[in-house]
Amino acid sequence: MQGEGRKNLMMSEQRIITRNDQEQVRKTIADLQDQSWPLIPILEKVQEEWGYIPPEFIPTIAQALGLFPSQVQGVISFYAQLYTEPRGRKVVRVCRGTACHVRGGKTILKLVKRHLDIEEGQTTPDLEYTLETVACIGVCALAPNIVIGGKTYGHMNPKKVEQLLGHTKGGG
Ligand code: FES
Repeated sequence: MQGEGRKNLMMSEQRIITRNDQEQVRKTIADLQDQSWPLIPILEKVQEEWGYIPPEFIPTIAQALGLFPSQVQGVISFYAQLYTEPRGRKVVRVCRGTACHVRGGKTILKLVKRHLDIEEGQTTPDLEYTLETVACIGVCALAPNIVIGGKTYGHMNPKKVEQLLGHTKGGG
């Protein structure tokens, strides 16, 4: 399960949504609106275009589809892969499963937090990394594991964390 706090990015990083953005999202909605179940495709497309689903778009989407904003918000909250706040270009997932835990996963998580200078669920101010934890990523034999930008790194140790993330702001 992904960290519940992952939507807690510092609010200062949220972009300003302009009238042009609103016009653009209306076009995105219009392109997909004729599908029989358009809400998810629209939300996915908006996230693809803006990197997240700006909350300012929720009333626009709801109105176009004849829904209440709370219904759109409810769907976004239900799907873990939909976000209403910006995320880092790379998501770092540290495994907290049993196999990884008994082989030092806790220390790896601590080191990753120190290197990125953020807590679980947060995104670095430069929007480079978002940190999450997962229950198991399915390669327990390589424990402890982390995933960075979709690539899995096994047999993690402090030196590897340093090599992979040591260049980051908090990694001194
Ligand atoms: S417990 Fe970490 S990969 Fe399975």
